Amino acid sequence: MARIFIIGVTGGIGHRLAPLLLANGHQVTGLHRKPEQADNLKNAGITPVTGDLMELTAETLAPLIRGHDIVVFSSGAAGSGLDRTTRIDGDGPGHVLAAMKQEGISRLYLVSAFPEAGRGKEPNPRFEHYMTEKKRADADVAVSDTDWVILRPGTLLHEDQDGQVNAGLAIPYGTVKRGNVAQFLAELIDTPEIRREIIEITDGRMPVAEAVSRFVRK
Ligand SMILES: NC(=O)c1ccc[n+]([C@@H]2O[C@H](COP(=O)([O-])OP(=O)(O)OC[C@H]3O[C@@H](n4cnc5c(N)ncnc54)[C@H](OP(=O)(O)O)[C@@H]3O)[C@@H](O)[C@H]2O)c1
Repeated sequence: MARIFIIGVTGGIGHRLAPLLLANGHQVTGLHRKPEQADNLKNAGITPVTGDLMELTAETLAPLIRGHDIVVFSSGAAGSGLDRTTRIDGDGPGHVLAAMKQEGISRLYLVSAFPEAGRGKEPNPRFEHYMTEKKRADADVAVSDTDWVILRPGTLLHEDQDGQVNAGLAIPYGTVKRGNVAQFLAELIDTPEIRREIIEITDGRMPVAEAVSRFVRK
Protein backbone atom coordinates (compact mmCIF):
# COMPACT_ATOMS: atom_id res chain seq x y z
CA MET A 1 0.00 0.00 0.00
CA ALA A 2 1.33 3.41 -0.96
CA ARG A 3 0.11 6.88 -0.05
CA ILE A 4 -0.35 8.67 -3.37
CA PHE A 5 -0.86 12.40 -3.94
CA ILE A 6 -2.52 13.25 -7.28
CA ILE A 7 -2.19 16.76 -8.71
CA GLY A 8 -4.94 16.98 -11.33
CA VAL A 9 -7.23 14.48 -9.58
CA THR A 10 -10.37 16.10 -11.02
CA GLY A 11 -9.04 15.98 -14.60
CA GLY A 12 -9.76 13.56 -17.41
CA ILE A 13 -6.86 11.27 -16.51
CA GLY A 14 -6.76 12.00 -12.78
CA HIS A 15 -10.39 11.16 -12.03
CA ARG A 16 -9.99 7.83 -13.84
CA LEU A 17 -6.69 7.06 -12.11
CA ALA A 18 -7.83 7.56 -8.51
CA PRO A 19 -10.38 4.69 -8.38
CA LEU A 20 -7.86 2.30 -9.97
CA LEU A 21 -5.32 3.15 -7.27
CA LEU A 22 -7.92 2.75 -4.52
CA ALA A 23 -8.96 -0.62 -5.97
CA ASN A 24 -5.29 -1.66 -5.87
CA GLY A 25 -5.24 -0.95 -2.12
CA HIS A 26 -3.52 2.44 -2.11
CA GLN A 27 -4.50 5.58 -0.22
CA VAL A 28 -5.20 8.57 -2.47
CA THR A 29 -5.07 12.28 -1.73
CA GLY A 30 -6.13 14.73 -4.41
CA LEU A 31 -5.30 18.42 -4.90
CA HIS A 32 -8.34 20.43 -6.00
CA ARG A 33 -8.80 24.17 -6.42
CA LYS A 34 -12.60 24.56 -6.19
CA PRO A 35 -14.16 24.11 -2.72
CA GLU A 36 -17.25 22.43 -4.21
CA GLN A 37 -15.09 19.52 -5.50
CA ALA A 38 -14.22 18.36 -1.96
CA ASP A 39 -17.41 16.40 -1.23
CA ASN A 40 -17.26 14.45 -4.50
CA LEU A 41 -13.66 13.51 -3.79
CA LYS A 42 -14.48 12.43 -0.24
CA ASN A 43 -17.42 10.36 -1.47
CA ALA A 44 -15.04 8.62 -3.91
CA GLY A 45 -12.70 7.69 -1.05
CA ILE A 46 -10.11 10.36 -1.90
CA THR A 47 -8.74 12.75 0.74
CA PRO A 48 -9.26 16.26 -0.67
CA VAL A 49 -6.63 18.97 -0.25
CA THR A 50 -7.33 22.49 -1.50
CA GLY A 51 -4.68 24.37 -3.47
CA ASP A 52 -4.11 26.30 -6.69
CA LEU A 53 -0.94 25.77 -8.72
CA MET A 54 -1.07 29.43 -9.76
CA GLU A 55 -0.27 30.29 -6.15
CA LEU A 56 1.48 27.25 -4.70
CA THR A 57 5.25 27.26 -4.31
CA ALA A 58 7.63 24.54 -3.13
CA GLU A 59 7.29 25.90 0.41
CA THR A 60 3.49 25.80 0.42
CA LEU A 61 3.28 22.48 -1.46
CA ALA A 62 5.62 20.69 0.94
CA PRO A 63 3.18 20.44 3.88
CA LEU A 64 0.39 19.31 1.51
CA ILE A 65 2.37 16.34 0.15
CA ARG A 66 3.94 15.50 3.53
CA GLY A 67 3.53 11.83 4.49
CA HIS A 68 2.99 10.57 0.94
CA ASP A 69 5.16 8.05 -0.91
CA ILE A 70 4.33 8.99 -4.49
CA VAL A 71 3.26 12.13 -6.36
CA VAL A 72 1.41 12.02 -9.68
CA PHE A 73 1.35 15.25 -11.71
CA SER A 74 -1.45 15.17 -14.28
CA SER A 75 -2.44 18.79 -14.21
CA GLY A 76 -2.44 21.32 -16.99
CA ALA A 77 -3.66 24.77 -17.92
CA ALA A 78 -5.58 23.27 -20.88
CA GLY A 79 -5.15 26.30 -23.12
CA SER A 80 -6.41 28.80 -20.54
CA GLY A 81 -3.64 31.31 -21.25
CA LEU A 82 0.09 31.71 -21.80
CA ASP A 83 0.88 32.75 -18.23
CA ARG A 84 -1.21 29.90 -16.80
CA THR A 85 0.57 27.43 -19.09
CA THR A 86 3.95 28.74 -17.92
CA ARG A 87 3.01 28.53 -14.25
CA ILE A 88 1.03 25.27 -14.24
CA ASP A 89 2.57 23.07 -16.98
CA GLY A 90 6.05 24.62 -16.94
CA ASP A 91 6.78 25.70 -13.36
CA GLY A 92 4.44 23.24 -11.59
CA PRO A 93 6.57 20.08 -11.76
CA GLY A 94 9.67 22.03 -10.64
CA HIS A 95 7.83 23.27 -7.54
CA VAL A 96 6.69 19.69 -6.90
CA LEU A 97 10.26 18.37 -7.19
CA ALA A 98 11.53 20.94 -4.70
CA ALA A 99 8.69 20.13 -2.29
CA MET A 100 9.38 16.39 -2.68
CA LYS A 101 13.05 16.95 -1.88
CA GLN A 102 12.09 18.90 1.23
CA GLU A 103 9.76 16.08 2.34
CA GLY A 104 12.01 13.16 1.37
CA ILE A 105 9.55 11.80 -1.22
CA SER A 106 11.27 10.00 -4.08
CA ARG A 107 8.68 8.78 -6.60
CA LEU A 108 7.14 11.09 -9.23
CA TYR A 109 4.95 10.26 -12.24
CA LEU A 110 4.59 13.17 -14.68
CA VAL A 111 2.00 13.23 -17.46
CA SER A 112 3.66 15.21 -20.24
CA ALA A 113 2.96 15.47 -23.99
CA PHE A 114 3.93 13.52 -27.09
CA PRO A 115 6.70 15.36 -28.98
CA GLU A 116 4.95 14.99 -32.36
CA ALA A 117 1.73 16.64 -31.10
CA GLY A 118 0.38 19.28 -33.48
CA ARG A 119 2.63 18.42 -36.41
CA GLY A 120 0.87 19.04 -39.73
CA LYS A 121 -1.32 21.79 -38.29
CA GLU A 122 -0.97 25.54 -38.83
CA PRO A 123 1.70 26.84 -36.45
CA ASN A 124 0.04 28.24 -33.34
CA PRO A 125 2.12 30.31 -30.88
CA ARG A 126 0.00 29.24 -27.89
CA PHE A 127 0.48 25.57 -28.72
CA GLU A 128 4.21 26.07 -29.33
CA HIS A 129 4.42 27.72 -25.91
CA TYR A 130 2.57 24.77 -24.35
CA MET A 131 4.99 22.29 -25.93
CA THR A 132 7.99 24.36 -24.84
CA GLU A 133 6.72 24.46 -21.25
CA LYS A 134 5.98 20.72 -21.23
CA LYS A 135 9.53 20.04 -22.40
CA ARG A 136 10.95 22.44 -19.82
CA ALA A 137 9.14 20.51 -17.10
CA ASP A 138 10.32 17.16 -18.51
CA ALA A 139 13.90 18.45 -18.41
CA ASP A 140 13.54 19.57 -14.78
CA VAL A 141 12.21 16.14 -13.81
CA ALA A 142 14.70 14.13 -15.87
CA VAL A 143 17.69 15.86 -14.29
CA SER A 144 16.34 15.37 -10.76
CA ASP A 145 17.51 12.63 -8.45
CA THR A 146 13.96 11.34 -7.90
CA ASP A 147 12.64 7.99 -9.14
CA TRP A 148 10.65 9.63 -11.91
CA VAL A 149 8.67 8.32 -14.87
CA ILE A 150 7.55 10.73 -17.58
CA LEU A 151 4.58 9.54 -19.61
CA ARG A 152 3.97 11.21 -22.98
CA PRO A 153 0.46 10.44 -24.28
CA GLY A 154 -0.69 11.13 -27.82
CA THR A 155 -3.81 13.24 -28.35
CA LEU A 156 -6.14 12.44 -25.46
CA LEU A 157 -9.64 11.08 -26.06
CA HIS A 158 -12.51 11.48 -23.57
CA GLU A 159 -12.99 7.73 -23.27
CA ASP A 160 -12.66 5.14 -20.54
CA GLN A 161 -10.11 2.37 -20.84
CA ASP A 162 -10.32 -0.63 -23.12
CA GLY A 163 -6.93 -1.74 -21.75
CA GLN A 164 -5.20 -1.93 -25.14
CA VAL A 165 -2.19 0.32 -25.77
CA ASN A 166 1.02 0.84 -27.67
CA ALA A 167 3.83 2.06 -25.43
CA GLY A 168 7.52 2.49 -26.11
CA LEU A 169 10.53 4.72 -25.88
CA ALA A 170 9.70 5.99 -29.40
CA ILE A 171 6.48 5.04 -31.17
CA PRO A 172 4.37 6.46 -34.00
CA TYR A 173 2.02 9.29 -33.02
CA GLY A 174 -1.66 8.61 -32.39
CA THR A 175 -4.58 9.12 -30.06
CA VAL A 176 -5.10 7.54 -26.67
CA LYS A 177 -8.09 7.13 -24.39
CA ARG A 178 -7.68 9.00 -21.10
CA GLY A 179 -8.79 5.77 -19.40
CA ASN A 180 -5.91 3.86 -20.98
CA VAL A 181 -3.41 6.45 -19.75
CA ALA A 182 -4.88 6.12 -16.26
CA GLN A 183 -4.70 2.33 -16.37
CA PHE A 184 -1.10 2.45 -17.61
CA LEU A 185 -0.18 4.83 -14.77
CA ALA A 186 -1.83 2.57 -12.19
CA GLU A 187 0.13 -0.41 -13.52
CA LEU A 188 3.38 1.60 -13.55
CA ILE A 189 2.83 2.64 -9.94
CA ASP A 190 2.56 -1.04 -8.99
CA THR A 191 5.81 -1.74 -10.86
CA PRO A 192 8.26 0.46 -8.92
CA GLU A 193 11.32 -1.10 -10.55
CA ILE A 194 10.40 0.95 -13.63
CA ARG A 195 12.01 4.30 -12.99
CA ARG A 196 13.88 7.03 -14.84
CA GLU A 197 12.07 6.27 -18.10
CA ILE A 198 10.34 8.50 -20.66
CA ILE A 199 7.50 6.49 -22.19
CA GLU A 200 5.34 7.39 -25.19
CA ILE A 201 1.82 5.94 -25.23
CA THR A 202 -1.09 5.71 -27.67
CA ASP A 203 -4.00 3.33 -27.99
CA GLY A 204 -2.90 0.04 -29.46
CA ARG A 205 -3.26 -3.69 -29.33
CA MET A 206 -1.25 -4.78 -26.32
CA PRO A 207 -2.83 -5.33 -22.90
CA VAL A 208 -1.68 -2.66 -20.45
CA ALA A 209 -0.07 -5.10 -17.99
CA GLU A 210 2.05 -6.64 -20.76
CA ALA A 211 2.95 -3.22 -22.20
CA VAL A 212 4.13 -2.05 -18.77
CA SER A 213 6.05 -5.26 -18.05
CA ARG A 214 8.18 -4.66 -21.17
CA PHE A 215 9.80 -1.69 -19.41
CA VAL A 216 11.19 -3.83 -16.60
CA ARG A 217 14.90 -3.93 -17.35
CA LYS A 218 16.46 -7.35 -16.98
N1 LIG B 1 -5.23 17.27 -24.41
C1 LIG B 1 -4.37 16.42 -24.96
O1 LIG B 1 -4.58 15.89 -26.07
C2 LIG B 1 -3.11 16.09 -24.22
C3 LIG B 1 -2.20 15.26 -24.85
C4 LIG B 1 -1.06 14.86 -24.14
C5 LIG B 1 -0.88 15.29 -22.84
N2 LIG B 1 -1.78 16.14 -22.24
C6 LIG B 1 -1.51 16.51 -20.83
O2 LIG B 1 -2.09 15.49 -20.02
C7 LIG B 1 -2.33 16.03 -18.71
C8 LIG B 1 -3.70 15.59 -18.22
O3 LIG B 1 -4.67 15.90 -19.18
P1 LIG B 1 -6.23 15.84 -18.81
O4 LIG B 1 -6.97 15.98 -20.09
O5 LIG B 1 -6.50 14.72 -17.89
O6 LIG B 1 -6.35 17.21 -18.03
P2 LIG B 1 -7.66 18.04 -17.72
O7 LIG B 1 -8.88 17.21 -17.83
O8 LIG B 1 -7.55 19.34 -18.46
O9 LIG B 1 -7.44 18.31 -16.15
C9 LIG B 1 -6.49 19.21 -15.70
C10 LIG B 1 -6.40 19.04 -14.20
O10 LIG B 1 -5.54 20.06 -13.71
C11 LIG B 1 -6.24 20.78 -12.71
N3 LIG B 1 -5.82 22.16 -12.68
C12 LIG B 1 -5.89 23.08 -13.68
N4 LIG B 1 -5.43 24.25 -13.25
C13 LIG B 1 -5.06 24.07 -11.95
C14 LIG B 1 -4.51 24.91 -10.97
N5 LIG B 1 -4.26 26.21 -11.22
N6 LIG B 1 -4.25 24.41 -9.75
C15 LIG B 1 -4.51 23.10 -9.47
N7 LIG B 1 -5.03 22.25 -10.36
C16 LIG B 1 -5.30 22.74 -11.59
C17 LIG B 1 -7.69 20.68 -13.10
O11 LIG B 1 -8.50 21.02 -12.01
P3 LIG B 1 -9.98 21.66 -12.18
O12 LIG B 1 -10.93 20.52 -12.01
O13 LIG B 1 -10.06 22.64 -11.08
O14 LIG B 1 -10.05 22.30 -13.54
C18 LIG B 1 -7.75 19.22 -13.49
O15 LIG B 1 -7.78 18.40 -12.36
C19 LIG B 1 -2.12 17.53 -18.82
O16 LIG B 1 -0.86 17.83 -18.30
C20 LIG B 1 -2.13 17.78 -20.33
O17 LIG B 1 -1.34 18.90 -20.67
C21 LIG B 1 -2.89 16.52 -22.91
